[in-house]
Order: sequence, then C-alpha cells, then structure tokens
Amino acid sequence: MVRKAALLALTVVVLLGQPAEAGSDRRAARDVIGGLVAPQGMFPWAVRLSMGCGGTLIEPRVVLTAGHCVDGTGQSDSIRVTAGVTDLKSRRAQTARSVRVIRAEGFIDETRGDDWAVVRLDRPLRLPTVALAKDAIGAGQFVVMGWGQTREASIEQEERLHYASVPIVPDEKCAAAYQKAAVALVPDEQLCAGSTTADTCQGDSGGPMVGHGRHGEWVQVGIVSWGLGCARDGFPGVYTQLSTFRPAIKDAVRRLRL
Ligand code: ARG
Repeated sequence: MVRKAALLALTVVVLLGQPAEAGSDRRAARDVIGGLVAPQGMFPWAVRLSMGCGGTLIEPRVVLTAGHCVDGTGQSDSIRVTAGVTDLKSRRAQTARSVRVIRAEGFIDETRGDDWAVVRLDRPLRLPTVALAKDAIGAGQFVVMGWGQTREASIEQEERLHYASVPIVPDEKCAAAYQKAAVALVPDEQLCAGSTTADTCQGDSGGPMVGHGRHGEWVQVGIVSWGLGCARDGFPGVYTQLSTFRPAIKDAVRRLRL
C-alpha cells in the first residue's frame, strides 16, 4: 500500500524543506515517513479478514468492511478475523469467526457505490472500536491502512499493517479522471484520495480511511473500495463515503443482532 520507492522520494523532498505536494502539511508528511509500518496499538480497531480484505471493529462483535469483500447478506461462518495486532503472525493476535453478514442492499459492484458490509462475530473482541464520521468531509489529509500490496505490480500481501497519509481529491476532479476510463463516480457515496506517492492497493479493500475527531480520537470517514491501478498519476483511490451510509450502517448493525 505504501509504496516504498515513492516514499523515499517523498522523504527526500520533505528533508529538503519543500512542500511534498500541494495541500500536504508537515504532520501528514511525518505520518507517512515515520509510520510505514504501523506500531503495535496505533490502530487497535483495524482487522484483517481471511478473504484478503481489511475491516474495522465498530462494535466488540461487529466488523465493517467493503461490500465487494463479502458474498452477500446471510448466515456465514467462512470469514476469519485477525485483530489486535500489526503483525498478523503475532501470538498476541485475537481471532474470531463470522456468524452473519449484511451487505448494503443496493450493492452491485464497487464502482457503483453502496460498497459496505457489516459482519457479526461469534464472540466479542476485547479491543477498542472506532467511531463513524457523521459529517461529510471536503478536503484535507487522511490516514489509510492495510495489509495489502505495497506496489501495483506486487503479488504479495504484507504481514504487517502499513499506513499512509493521503490527500482528498475533489469529486469533480476525480470524476473527470475516471470518466476517461469510462467509469461514472457516485459523488455522494464515494470519496477520492491519494497521490502518486501514497495510495491504497489490492488487499487493502474494506480497511479504513480515518481522520481526527474533535477530541483527537480517530474517526472513520471512508472504506477502501477501488481504484485504477495503484498510485497512478491522475487516478486516486476511491473510498466509500461513510457519512452518507452511517444511518444505514447503524441500522444494519441493529439487524445483525436479531
Ligand atoms: N479493490 C481493492 C481491493 O479489493 C482496493 C483497491 C484500492 N485501489 C486504489 N488505487 N486505492 O483490495
């Protein structure tokens, strides 16, 4: 996900004291440079799912992920969850299994919006949960993470959680770019973010994009959904816009308990 060569270039630029990129600030740059591999405990609600996606713990027994990461709505014991660790092979990992899944009703495929799903676990995990953003975000830097590929051409997933800071790309700019690739964005349901130096990639889907809440706590604003390649010039990553779906997700979480 975090592309190492590009990161090195970014490091050099930042050390030379030049803006890494329009719109990025010092804190954001430090996030990427200082935090290629997430330290244990930094994102305690970030989880890995066995089908090769990411997710977040939004309740002790509920994981939020992308709609395209699951098969649909219904009983399911096929998803294994690894939680509480940066390193998936760590003996401190907590594990659980899915019992039930609810996928967004309107889901067709990731490019058409509605790309979210909630998974009920067979047991509560003793870990912090992350809050979902209420308000839409328009601009700024946000943190993305996952155990996915660190390069577009890589065939490997990572053993350790990687994170990066990405700038939001305005809807119009993103829509214009993807129009060239014959994909129509759904602006109310999607957020675009990323640059040629930082992006998510295959295997990061379902994982979070987070920002800081009013009290400095992490708040989830997006779900990794799709992109044309990874970190390609002009083609940012596309994320599910959580503020749009918060009520529907809360409702689905309630129905998961029934
Ligand atoms: N669809 C991918 C997955 O299933 C996520 C791709 C994100 N791509 C990007 N360029 N941000 O893991």
